[in-house]
Amino acid sequence: MNTVINAAPMHESHARKLDHLSLCAGDDVEHGAHAGLFEEVSLVHDALPEVSTAELDLTTRFLDHTLRAPLMLTGMTGGPREAGEVNHALARVCAQVGVPFGLGSQRVMLRDPSCADTFRVRSSAPDVLLIGNIGVMQARDLGPERVAELARSVEADYLAIHLNPAMELVQPGSEADSDFTGGYDTIARVVDALGGRVLVKECGTGLSARVAARLAALGVRGLDASGSGGTSWVKVEALRAQGRQARLGALFADWGIPTAAAVALCRPAAPDATLIASGGITDGLVAAKALALGADVAGLARPVLQAYNAGGADGALEFLEETIAALRIAMVLVGARTPVELRRAPRVLGPRLRAWLHPESPAESAQ
Ligand SMILES: Cc1cc2nc3c(=O)[nH]c(=O)nc-3n(C[C@H](O)[C@H](O)[C@H](O)COP(=O)(O)O)c2cc1C
Repeated sequence: MNTVINAAPMHESHARKLDHLSLCAGDDVEHGAHAGLFEEVSLVHDALPEVSTAELDLTTRFLDHTLRAPLMLTGMTGGPREAGEVNHALARVCAQVGVPFGLGSQRVMLRDPSCADTFRVRSSAPDVLLIGNIGVMQARDLGPERVAELARSVEADYLAIHLNPAMELVQPGSEADSDFTGGYDTIARVVDALGGRVLVKECGTGLSARVAARLAALGVRGLDASGSGGTSWVKVEALRAQGRQARLGALFADWGIPTAAAVALCRPAAPDATLIASGGITDGLVAAKALALGADVAGLARPVLQAYNAGGADGALEFLEETIAALRIAMVLVGARTPVELRRAPRVLGPRLRAWLHPESPAESAQ
């Protein structure tokens, strides 16, 4: 059930975080069926793969680190006590699996410093590869030094700067950003302040090739293409809004670059970046397709939250282990020993995905 938690005398930003957790517990916030276009990717079966499961090696380079599997949990939450419980539990699960854990936006820490412990997950998972999180417009307003301090205050290994103009434009009035200028300059300054330990992520509407190339040129070493196909943040905000804002949210609910297209377009645009595929990675077979299209790592958010809601930390752990098990099966069935070999697997792409990979320029269509 998607009942929004009644949070009367609570800090406004905490109530919003609880709304998000509550709405994302259900499926009303998903992009329309097939929005990620992964059903347009078929990996070609190899009946004699000459691979033993014993020799599969899923270890993966992730910036300056090595992961045990090419997966990560992308940023979700923090702030209210319940969000802290989710963060501490899922950080422990990620440490166990050997994959990075992303915190949700740390903006709320500035408004209410007393909630900092909900983000300080090292007390629960000292060795987890930890990714801090802040929105690009908040980063612009804070300035690079305060942003770097925010990342240091939780002992994050990297900071993810999130982009989400679509969500901001449909968010109820006082909470929303409407001035999106200065983003590239802000990111360049934060990259400098953090010595390059910066990722940039979308939140389910996708990075285009042009944006990915410009970010890579600024020295951003990690990009999360986060396309449409999974959680729609426009839908989340539309469900929280009323009147015109709710109608505008419904209109743009499926706006975005499908995740399969975003990954395939970003790979050649930013060839040296660590590329994360998120937005609708629901299982290990979809993860295998994302890796085949060029991602280094598949990122998951809401599916892990739902597994946690259903079965606690054990449920989240089992979900990630099953995801890895499915990924291993897919690798054997295309004859790949490593995630990098998966990229060379023959594949069949459907017409809608192929159309995204060769977008028409306005000049061509005008002729
Ligand atoms: C409950 C919830 C809260 C989220 N909060 C944040 C956030 O604070 N910062 C951020 O960068 N992304 C946030 N995201 C977006 C995810 O990191 C991810 O980009 C997006 O949900 C698509 O992945 P999915 O389809 O696996 O959910 C959130 C996602 C969920 C489900």
